[in-house]
Amino acid sequence: MKHKNQVFDNVLDLVGKTPLIKLNKMTSQIKGNFYAKVEAFNPGHSSKDRIALYIIEQAEKQGILSPGDTIIETTSGNTGFSIAMVSIIKGYDCVLAVSSKSSADKIDMLKTMGAKVYVCPAHVSADDPRSYYQVAKRLHEEIKGSVYINQYFNQLNIDAHYHSTGPEIWNQTEGKITHLVACSGTGGTISGTAKYLKEKNPNIKVIGVDAFGSVIKKYHETREFDEEEIYPYRIEGLGKNLIPTATDFDVIDEFVKVTDEDSAHTARLIAKTEGLFVGYTSGAAMQAIKQLGEDGKFKKNDNIVVIFPDHGSRYMSKIYSDKWMSEQGFFDSINVEAAQSIEYIK
Ligand SMILES: Cc1ncc(COP(=O)(O)O)c(C=O)c1O
Repeated sequence: MKHKNQVFDNVLDLVGKTPLIKLNKMTSQIKGNFYAKVEAFNPGHSSKDRIALYIIEQAEKQGILSPGDTIIETTSGNTGFSIAMVSIIKGYDCVLAVSSKSSADKIDMLKTMGAKVYVCPAHVSADDPRSYYQVAKRLHEEIKGSVYINQYFNQLNIDAHYHSTGPEIWNQTEGKITHLVACSGTGGTISGTAKYLKEKNPNIKVIGVDAFGSVIKKYHETREFDEEEIYPYRIEGLGKNLIPTATDFDVIDEFVKVTDEDSAHTARLIAKTEGLFVGYTSGAAMQAIKQLGEDGKFKKNDNIVVIFPDHGSRYMSKIYSDKWMSEQGFFDSINVEAAQSIEYIK
């Protein structure tokens, strides 16, 4: 229940209803009007608050969860943080199996939020017993009264965005949105949001963002799972080495692939030009828009909404560290002095 004068019962009352913010400088060279749905405004600083709250409340409604039960999940960090936050308020234990690709900051944050964390090797196949999927499955079998959120294969992940992100964007744009651009990891965000928006207006174009090294784009185009596409990449939360059932490929019109390096530089540029301190995949989504813009994809009166999934503070030891950027070779092809100052004018 909401109190008077903007006082809330607890932090969970603040999930969702994130702002849509017009992009100005980033997109000045591209035709169209661009708006970012800035999910860092969620109390857990990412879009994953929406699915954590929705899935847990659905389980409560169905009588699957009782106080003191354990919630288990595999996560690159954000979903874990959100589940840990919801668990604290609602009185559940939270157990998380995470990829070793996750930043040290993220893992420390999960521990701070009271979660028990298992760090699993990133570059093993999904059916390897050491993979975070298999570790989570095993823990689910071992811990009595546990619920496995399983975000990659949970239809409720799509439903959460169908019921929140989709209607919010439709209302915020007064139904004038023409394109949605969103990263696809589990696919829940893009699928649920797109499903709602396309029911309102089937002409809205939905563009997914995928990573080089991921199977998603090729699967969308051919319905073929091609292992040859798989190789390690650095962006967390984008693309996949399997086909998640939480992705509804039919509501997505096309996928664009972006590189680790371009996405990192673009994320840094968003902070410097728009004053928005957002995460690595926000850089990826913006990079996709740049590429689409260069291909002449957008028209002057188009209203393009891009989802920025999380906050930049989670990447201080990665893309916002000059040391990390140099180690990756991301400063090799550009003038480092320029990259570190404000000479990013296009
Ligand atoms: C930082 C970040 N961006 C984007 C995504 C992709 O969202 P979704 O899983 O809904 O496709 C995720 C999901 O793991 C994420 O953690």
